[in-house]
Amino acid sequence: MNFSRRRSVLYVPASNTKAMAKTAALQCDAVIFDLEDAVAAEVRPAARQNLRDLFHASAQRADQERIIRINAVGGVPDAEDIAVAAVCKPDAVLVPKVEASKTLAAVRQALDAQAAREPIRLWAMIETPMGIVNLREICQRGSKPEIGLRCLVAGSNDIAKEAGLPLGSARATIEHWLAAIVIHAKAFRLDSLDGVFNDFRDEEGFEHECASGAKLGFDGKSLIHPNQIAPANATFSPSEDAIREARAVIEAFEDPVNAGAGVISVGGKMVERLHLEIARRVLAHV
Ligand code: COA
Ligand code: MG
Repeated sequence: MNFSRRRSVLYVPASNTKAMAKTAALQCDAVIFDLEDAVAAEVRPAARQNLRDLFHASAQRADQERIIRINAVGGVPDAEDIAVAAVCKPDAVLVPKVEASKTLAAVRQALDAQAAREPIRLWAMIETPMGIVNLREICQRGSKPEIGLRCLVAGSNDIAKEAGLPLGSARATIEHWLAAIVIHAKAFRLDSLDGVFNDFRDEEGFEHECASGAKLGFDGKSLIHPNQIAPANATFSPSEDAIREARAVIEAFEDPVNAGAGVISVGGKMVERLHLEIARRVLAHV
């Protein structure tokens, strides 16, 4: 399946069957079922079984991606998590704490060994200083078809922890770390997702951080609570104004009067062919 929108991507601990069951009715573009940090080691076997049960029992929704976050301590993929992913065949496996492409290659190899290569894609969490430093190497090799990296996910809590910053005020300091993730994603034609906002009762704070993520150029935001879905969808969708403007640009270039023109005027603004491409991209995300 080809998903064009990743505005709202909700984490759910795979140990929480009640929350997992709820996700099918939620309007988030993707769900990340977590086997990593949100699940204590002693309940991981039960969480793996929960995933088997859920993927076996419920059909994929055409408008919602399903991702499994595995464990990969020291860059080595957890064999039992890989086995679950191979059975469940989610749209993607999210690999935590990626610091080099060899970790992604190891996950790909482990999935291939279980005959589960297609169509499971890889997503990578960038959440350590070394992950940021090695972004180019990770994206360059990871985005090759034989590895299949599709999306970078910022792990803002881990970045703050690694950088020794207080969680509440870390955002301003790590914004340029986040910008590095966006730039590399754009250079290698990957999607990128902003990190989570922990204080899920603080609506104003969340909207503010969503806006900051959209301004940085992220395609969407990773979320921890259903309350965060609607504001994320709104922030990462094109605005009414942007849609109106995109339609006007497309109409203007389709007008026979402008056939062959490279640059025209629309609503008092200079518009070039590159704006036509931008307009088409905007409408593709409506
Ligand atoms: N996905 C789906 N449903 C969720 C959910 C999630 N991430 N978080 C909460 N819900 C559901 C709850 O089950 C509850 O359902 P109910 O009304 O039928 O009882 C409802 O939404 C309201 O939940 P609320 O009481 O406000 O929160 P909570 O105390 O149950 O849960 C958290 C709070 C933070 C523990 C929970 O949101 C959570 O686990 N989030 C994901 C954490 C995670 O995966 N982190 C890893 C990546 S950072
Ligand atoms: Mg993390």
